[in-house]
Amino acid sequence: MEWNKPPEIRGRRETERQQFVRATYAQKVEEKREAGDGPAPQLTADDLRAAGSRTIGPEVSGKCVTFCEPSPISWPIFSCGVATAMKSCLICKSAIEPFISFGRMPIANGFLTKEQFAVEPFYELATGFCKTCKMVQLTELVDPDKMFHENYAFFSSTSAGMAAHFESMAKSVKAKYLGPDPFVVEIGSNDGIMLRHFADAGIRHLGVEPSANVAEVARRRGITTISEFFDVNLAKRITAEHGQADAFLGANVMCHIPTLHSVVAGVKMLLKPRGVLVFEDPYLGDIIEKGSYDQIYDEHAFYFSVTSLDHLFAEHELEIIDVASQLTHGGSMRYTVAHRGAWPVTPAVAAQRIKETNLGLSRAETYEQFRRRVETSRDELMALLCKLKADGKRVAAYGATSKSTTVTNYCGITPDIIEYISDTTSIKQNKFSPGAHIPVKPHAEFAKRYPDYALLFAWNHAAEIKAKETAFIESGGRWIVYVPRVEAQS
Ligand code: SAH
Ligand code: TYD
Repeated sequence: MEWNKPPEIRGRRETERQQFVRATYAQKVEEKREAGDGPAPQLTADDLRAAGSRTIGPEVSGKCVTFCEPSPISWPIFSCGVATAMKSCLICKSAIEPFISFGRMPIANGFLTKEQFAVEPFYELATGFCKTCKMVQLTELVDPDKMFHENYAFFSSTSAGMAAHFESMAKSVKAKYLGPDPFVVEIGSNDGIMLRHFADAGIRHLGVEPSANVAEVARRRGITTISEFFDVNLAKRITAEHGQADAFLGANVMCHIPTLHSVVAGVKMLLKPRGVLVFEDPYLGDIIEKGSYDQIYDEHAFYFSVTSLDHLFAEHELEIIDVASQLTHGGSMRYTVAHRGAWPVTPAVAAQRIKETNLGLSRAETYEQFRRRVETSRDELMALLCKLKADGKRVAAYGATSKSTTVTNYCGITPDIIEYISDTTSIKQNKFSPGAHIPVKPHAEFAKRYPDYALLFAWNHAAEIKAKETAFIESGGRWIVYVPRVEAQS
């Protein structure tokens, strides 16, 4: 049955839950129409339970929970042309095996105003596994210029913990890898959170940052930055203008670039004979071990492991010479890569490959298990939130992260459940979260009148946030987390 889908959205996959909510809503609209009542009924927990919901238990009262899309009657127009469905592996061209779909999804960092609701673009968020080269990747890709532009909402320097992390990464690169008259290139340099430490030391450097607004912040700090997407053609121009680099850096950006072969070919060209690529990204092993499905969103085209990257770098006569686990972003891996044979390979690399075998990262069943765990996590989180709401508790959220877009849209968390999301980033404030349309408020809103519960969307910054929000706990407030498991914490 096509329910009340507008034609633009037909053919796009929705999750079973999204279909169920929509179908129940459509039925209710129909009943109201037949009864001659007004339009726009509210969908309650009772309605969903009566329709056979498997996740809403009897403890949830029908009066308080509305589960419908914020404005289901004016279903958002599906903006065609924002994404491309992938038929084969972006690395080795073999067939990819899809293992989870989060259904229709807006752009993760697409915070918007009310006026923009009607034209909000959606695509299908789903991931697949390549049995041949073992790369985990998105099966539909949003166009980069729809995500990275002059209104990009992610500013790296919003966390003191991340600032300290990148200071230490810069220090380590300076100590280990810079030769005479060094030159350092960083892609995805954002507001200059890492490159500033090279600029301040008078080291020749270049930031490559396509999002013009964050790049401008870096430039104002005295960091040389160009606003372009890095690829092999840009690498040619940089080499011609500045010569080769001692270090090519990238934090949370390599996994963003679907044209990874072009990037790696560019790195190969740009690196001096003893030059190194040092990059870090959320680590697939952590995502699988912790069930942190919220790392899956449009910007993250790839979910790297040593095993899958080995295939990629081998094609370019590069090799991983060192790896080091990082606590950032809920579990990341730092990879150091060099021309084949240029540096000795540390024992950490082989040790990590063994860990990956033990974790089952090369087996399709691992991803099936992951899918089941994610579904359980979604059901448990919704059951907890519904129960709290039914008990009359005030629930807000903390951190309008990109990750939260996956959670709110996949689980069906709406402004009826979460009053607002507190966030310190001014460009996100007084807008609405993508898809779920939960208001984003400055931190003052949170501090003015603490909610009973705060859903910690920025769970990766838990230590930093909990340390400064002791008054929230003293007021009787509790955190809700969902990684590695759903629970309320003091
Ligand atoms: N390195 C920062 C920012 C990560 S967000 C940090 O770790 O906090 C990813 C950044 O990569 C964004 O600022 C985005 O604009 C940039 N980016 C995306 N595609 C890129 C490309 N092809 N080349 C260079 N930067 C890119
Ligand atoms: P982050 O988890 O780094 O990113 P993402 O999931 O987008 O990769 O995002 C942290 C968000 O949380 C960012 O919008 C800033 C906000 N934030 C706060 O509001 N308060 C804080 O104390 C911290 C550390 C972050």
